[in-house]
Amino acid sequence: MKIVTIIGARPQIIKAAALSRAIKDSGNDNIKEIIVHTGQHYDENMSQVFFEELHIPRPDYNLHVGSASHGTQTGKMIEGIERILLDEKPDFIVLYGDTNSTLAGAIAAAKIHTPIVHIEAGLRSFNKSMPEEINRIVCDHCSTLLFTPTATGYKNLQNEGFETCNKGPYTIDNPKICHCGDIMYDNSLFFSKQSAGRTNIIRKLDLEDKGYVLATIHRDSNTDNPEHLNAIFEAFIQISKDTEIVIPLHPRTAKLLKVNLRKEIREGIENSPNIKLTDPASFFEMIELERHSYLIMTDSGGVQKEAYFFNKPAIILRPETEWVEIVETGNAILTGSCTEKIIAAWQHFHKITPTDFPEIFGNGKAAAFILQEMINTSSIP
Ligand code: UD1
Repeated sequence: MKIVTIIGARPQIIKAAALSRAIKDSGNDNIKEIIVHTGQHYDENMSQVFFEELHIPRPDYNLHVGSASHGTQTGKMIEGIERILLDEKPDFIVLYGDTNSTLAGAIAAAKIHTPIVHIEAGLRSFNKSMPEEINRIVCDHCSTLLFTPTATGYKNLQNEGFETCNKGPYTIDNPKICHCGDIMYDNSLFFSKQSAGRTNIIRKLDLEDKGYVLATIHRDSNTDNPEHLNAIFEAFIQISKDTEIVIPLHPRTAKLLKVNLRKEIREGIENSPNIKLTDPASFFEMIELERHSYLIMTDSGGVQKEAYFFNKPAIILRPETEWVEIVETGNAILTGSCTEKIIAAWQHFHKITPTDFPEIFGNGKAAAFILQEMINTSSIP
C-alpha cells in the first residue's frame, strides 16, 4: 500500500506524526508513506522545528509554495501535487484538516481518481466566510474514506447525505465514514510524556505553575480586521492588570499587530509588564505552556481542543466553533472578539473552575484505527 501524505501548515505537520508512528509500529513492510510538504508554512519555527522535535520523517517532496493569495497559493499546490500523484501512483492520498494544502490535495487527487483519506472529516462551523469551512466541505465531498474526530463530525456528514451502512468497494461515489477519535489526542498523550524534560520554556519565561493565561490568535477574521484585533487586545490589557498573559505570536499576527493596532492599544501592551509576547512555540513548548496555564484564550481550532485535553477552561475568540462539545460541557465559552464578553468569560472561569472533562475525543488510538481501515480497504497482506 502506497500512501502520499500532504502536509503544509503547522498543525498538519504535527498531526501527520501520529499516522507515521502507527505505520512504523505496525512493522508492515508493505506500507510505504511518501510525505509531501506544500511549503505553505516555511518559517523555521512554523515548520522545521516540528520535524526535528517530533522525529517526523523528512518530506520526500517540498513544493515551496510559500505565502500568496488563496487562489495563487492553492493553484500552485494543485499543480505540484498532481505531478507527484501521477509519478508516484499511490493507493491513497492522506489529507488532514481544512487548510489550503488540504483543499489543493483534494482537488488534485479527485480529478485524477486517486482515492482520498480525509482525517478530521465532518467538522463544520456553518460559517462559509471562513476559508477553512470551504476547504473542509470540498475535501469531505471528494473523499473515499472519512475519519471524524467527534460524534458531531459524524452527524454532520450524515446530515449532508453520507451513508453509514454502505458496503465496499469504497469509492468517491460510495465513501465510507468512520468515527475514530482525534488523532491530535493520540499525539498529545504521546508527546506530553516527553515534553517536560525537553524544554525549559516555563523557566525561560519566568512563569509560575497555574499562574498565567496562555493566548493565541492567528485567524484572519481576527488578525486582518482592525476592529476585532483591537477589541481582543483591549481585553488582554484589562485582564493583564490581574494576571500574566503569555502570547506566542503566529507570523501573521506579528505582522498585523504593527499595522492594525491603534496607538493607545499598542502603548497599552508595551506598558503591561504582564503581557508576554513571544515567538511561535514548538510543540513541546506549547504542551508545557498549555499544561502549566490555568486558562487558555484562543481562536485556534487545535489549541482550544488541547486546552480540553489538559483539563483547562478555554475562552474561544471566535463567534462559533467546530468543537461544539467543549462548549456544551461548560468547559469553554465563545466570546468572538467582544472585549466585554472576553472579560466576562475570564471572570466566570475565575469563579467556577471546570473539573469534569468527559472523554469526547476518543481513546488516543485513532491513528492505529485509521491505518487498519486503510489496510482493509486496500486489501494488502
Ligand atoms: C493556516 C490555515 C489555518 C490553520 C493555520 C495554522 C488556511 C486557509 N489556513 O492559516 O486553517 O489554522 O494555518 O497555523 O490554510 N506566514 C509566515 N511564515 C510562515 C507561515 C505564514 O510569515 O511560515 C505568514 C504570511 O504572512 C502568510 C500568513 O502568515 O501570508 C498566513 O499564512 P497562511 O498559511 O496563508 O495561513 P495561516 O494564517 O497560517
